Amino acid sequence: MNPEEKIRISFRLNGREVEAHVLPGETALHLLRERLGLRGVKEGCGIGECGACTIVVDKKAVNSCLMLAAQLHGCEVLTVEGLESPVGLHPLQEAFLEHDAIQCGYCTPGMLLSAYALIISRGVPTREEIVRALAGNLCRCTGYHQIVDAVQDAARRMAGKEEGRW
Ligand code: FES
Ligand code: FES
Repeated sequence: MNPEEKIRISFRLNGREVEAHVLPGETALHLLRERLGLRGVKEGCGIGECGACTIVVDKKAVNSCLMLAAQLHGCEVLTVEGLESPVGLHPLQEAFLEHDAIQCGYCTPGMLLSAYALIISRGVPTREEIVRALAGNLCRCTGYHQIVDAVQDAARRMAGKEEGRW
């Protein structure tokens, strides 16, 4: 394949259909952040080690720096910009604020999305499951305890509610 030849892809992004023409070697991170303007998708290490670039693809948390943009074709993609709804902040966002789980905020979008993927697959996770699920998301500021508290609190609030109502 010609590395300069663009590929047409379409996918669902934060609830809306989008279409893009991407280079074969382009990362999902580059497409979402630089070309589609979703600045909540953070670039940290660029090599899959910090989790700052985490997005949710088909209900699983992935490092967008390690995923090709072309692989998004046909997928359902969520970035932090899609968490908030017209009725307000997502319960995870509210819990992060209430538990002081945010300082500089650089890790926060990735943390929220890893936590979101965990909760939709697991319901109300244990503390150990939360720690394991967030192990790939590094935070230089908070010491992690408040983040784990916030995720546990949000999971309890979300329990029993329809996914579409969060
Ligand atoms: S920027 Fe993707 S894991 Fe660090
Ligand atoms: S709040 Fe600063 S890196 Fe986590």
